Amino acid sequence: MSDLDSINSSFEQKIKSLKSKEELQILKTEFFGKNGQITKQFKNLGNITADKRKEFASSLNKLKDRLNTQLDSKFIELETLEINEKLKDQKIDITLPVRPFQNGKIHPVSQVIDEISSIFSEIGFAVAEGPDVETEYNNFTALNTPEDHPARDMHDTFYLEENKKILLRTHTSPVQIRTMMNGKPPFKIIVPGRTYRCDSDQTHAPMFHQLEGLHIDKNINMSHLKGCLDYFIKEFFEVKNLKMRFRPSHFPFTEPSAEVDIGYRIEKGRIVIGEGDKWLEILGCGMVHPNVLRNVKVDSNKYQGFAFGMGIDRLAMLKYGINDLRAFFESDFRWLSHFGFDPLDVPTNYRGLSK
Ligand code: DAH
Repeated sequence: MSDLDSINSSFEQKIKSLKSKEELQILKTEFFGKNGQITKQFKNLGNITADKRKEFASSLNKLKDRLNTQLDSKFIELETLEINEKLKDQKIDITLPVRPFQNGKIHPVSQVIDEISSIFSEIGFAVAEGPDVETEYNNFTALNTPEDHPARDMHDTFYLEENKKILLRTHTSPVQIRTMMNGKPPFKIIVPGRTYRCDSDQTHAPMFHQLEGLHIDKNINMSHLKGCLDYFIKEFFEVKNLKMRFRPSHFPFTEPSAEVDIGYRIEKGRIVIGEGDKWLEILGCGMVHPNVLRNVKVDSNKYQGFAFGMGIDRLAMLKYGINDLRAFFESDFRWLSHFGFDPLDVPTNYRGLSK
């Protein structure tokens, strides 16, 4: 028997009786380690006469490959065996109850902003945003609000520095300015966002939400404004018939200006929007003042349009029967569980998921 044959048969014998990965490692070292039997044969190649060397080297390589393949498959065999052994002793206890968890809720204000955005997007309005910290110029001056206008009063506005140049925006209207300064007409945007005024009672909070609307194009007039608001209010309150009236009013940034009231009645102690003998004021609006267009370098002889602004929190209170505005911002978990919206719309009686 040649050297290689005897190496082969000794390997075959040994690998058969292996019981663990540790034993396999020992076998590997015995044949392929620094002084292993195969390694030695490679080292010895130089001592073989040139005429036999090539044939011997080729047989040696083949043997090396064969043994390696066997080592690999033995490894897999032993590992599978080991895992099966472990699984025999280990049982997975699937009776452990799930840890309790509670679904988050969507805040009514966020829900209403989503609803409003999707209603206006259907008639081509894009959503624009602006920062809560504004310049006095964007918040007042550019909107044609004179220096001595009462809205600038310290009591209403949170100024952020002594010179009164930086403030917390008192309305979303400055985003009209930002949008028109940075673009070219036509403009058709709504702006939902946070606004701030120094005011707090059952229907006023120092931080509240407004929705601004702006539509500027070549032939926009007041009837477009009326059609747009009629569509929005019907969609938002989900009513077919709506009584709406425009009351003359004044805003520095619109001319003419109006406030809009919608009809309602009380039925079984609840407000029903649409028709009735009572009026509810819901927004301010008008045709954008030429001075405003001039300030943002829009040619008021070519372009004109309407703007409107309304309180989002109030819309949410009306639609979902919420009485106290302050509760919106108190972060009371029980309140949110009651008035919040389920993001996945999972029925609350599905005990597997709730509480
Ligand atoms: N910015 C006004 C406010 O906070 C609301 C408003 C009125 C916005 C008329 C407008 C508008 O864009 O045209 O009271």
